[in-house]
Amino acid sequence: MSATVGSAAVSVEAVSKRFRVYRERNNTLKSALMRRGSSSYQDFQALEEVSLEIPQGSTFALVGDNGSGKSTLLKCIARILVPDSGTIRRRGRMAAMLEVGSGFHPELSGRENIYLNGSILGMSRSEIDAKLDQIVDFSGVEAFIDQPVKNYSSGMYVRLGFSVAIHTEPEILLVDEILAVGDTSFQEKCAQKFADLRDEGRTVVVVSHSLPQLRSMADQAAYLDHGRLKAVGPARVVLEQYADAERTNIRTDDNGRVRWGTGEVVVERVEVIGPQGPVGEEGLVSGDQVVLRLHYHATRRVERPSLGLTMDSAQGSYLWASFSRDQGFSPDYLEGRGSVDLVIPHLPLQEGLYAVHGGVLGAGPEEVFDFVREIAWLQVGTSDPRDSGGPVSMAGRWRMSGQTRTAVEVVSALGTGTGGKDGL
Ligand SMILES: Nc1ncnc2c1ncn2[C@@H]1O[C@H](COP(=O)(O)OP(=O)(O)OP(=O)(O)O)[C@@H](O)[C@H]1O
Ligand SMILES: [Mg+2]
Repeated sequence: MSATVGSAAVSVEAVSKRFRVYRERNNTLKSALMRRGSSSYQDFQALEEVSLEIPQGSTFALVGDNGSGKSTLLKCIARILVPDSGTIRRRGRMAAMLEVGSGFHPELSGRENIYLNGSILGMSRSEIDAKLDQIVDFSGVEAFIDQPVKNYSSGMYVRLGFSVAIHTEPEILLVDEILAVGDTSFQEKCAQKFADLRDEGRTVVVVSHSLPQLRSMADQAAYLDHGRLKAVGPARVVLEQYADAERTNIRTDDNGRVRWGTGEVVVERVEVIGPQGPVGEEGLVSGDQVVLRLHYHATRRVERPSLGLTMDSAQGSYLWASFSRDQGFSPDYLEGRGSVDLVIPHLPLQEGLYAVHGGVLGAGPEEVFDFVREIAWLQVGTSDPRDSGGPVSMAGRWRMSGQTRTAVEVVSALGTGTGGKDGL
């Protein structure tokens, strides 16, 4: 997991970069006179003493808010920008996909730009000849390949640029936010390509604002905040830190789970209990009653805590959260070991695997004793009658219209009783 010396594909040492930002020009004579003697520009520190190592073969995510310096750092690594101080060492052939259309000549055709771009990225003419068909094919812009690229849509630019970049077979690929421009099918194609590159031991550095996407592809990550490195390390930890900068003591525990909080109360486990008792290999089906039993250990007495459980799909999309305080349920205190149940009367999920995260929060709004990701998994099988698509199960039943029943009959037929609140 940790980068050992010598295994870095890129090593960034104490890199700083300033931009000179000039004051507005359409000033009045008065302000020009008042400014006399003082400079008409300001230096803006875009990167400040950033040091990190990108291990060879890793898929390395770069995250941070708008303006935090991600693109600047990628440009320094790609040698498009020169840092004011610090050094960057790179090992192996590199290709970069930075801004939409960078490296393209607008008047030249797609085909001519493949040659132009390929040679900028270090391919010989015969190498490009040999790969031309593959490049065009992967890009999906065959129909427009002999038109000038100034007529391309931004998605078409990105498809062609990405296709050239990966066909140079780089050992290090830098990708800045381009996936957001592509359509769904292109995004899937890229995700597959990134997985192939990783399997081949190549290094991918990717900037993205999509946490689900990064959670599923990145193994290492760095978090930039106003040009400074705020965190670097295993992606699962760093991405959670970026998701909420207020989290204290975020770490990986002995079981490899990501957790954070003060630790005064810890979540020991979350038990999944189905209609027949604790759920094992057999899993659950849609509509089952499920109890999520959160076992805690409070090393000191804590007053009025809140218990929380949340759920994601296996692909990392956020599906659900339930915090006991939002239902007006806060135990007077917790002390020692014990457990609290969340009763789900009818599991509203279709077939699939779902991750459960759980925690214990304090009385204050930001106070977290412990929050653990992936503390349990729900394996849900097909139910009968079955749903046909999507993650949720509505328990809908087909019938001919006109068979009107009273509201009371409908409610009892659906098995919803008097509502879901009496479980707690
Ligand atoms: N050529 C430039 N001249 C002046 N300032 C610049 C220049 N390039 C970047 N900056 C400034 O440096 C800061 C960092 O910019 P950068 O593009 O690296 O951010 P980013 O993290 O990539 O943001 P985003 O998420 O919006 O893409 C910003 O405040 C930006 O205005
Ligand atoms: Mg950027």
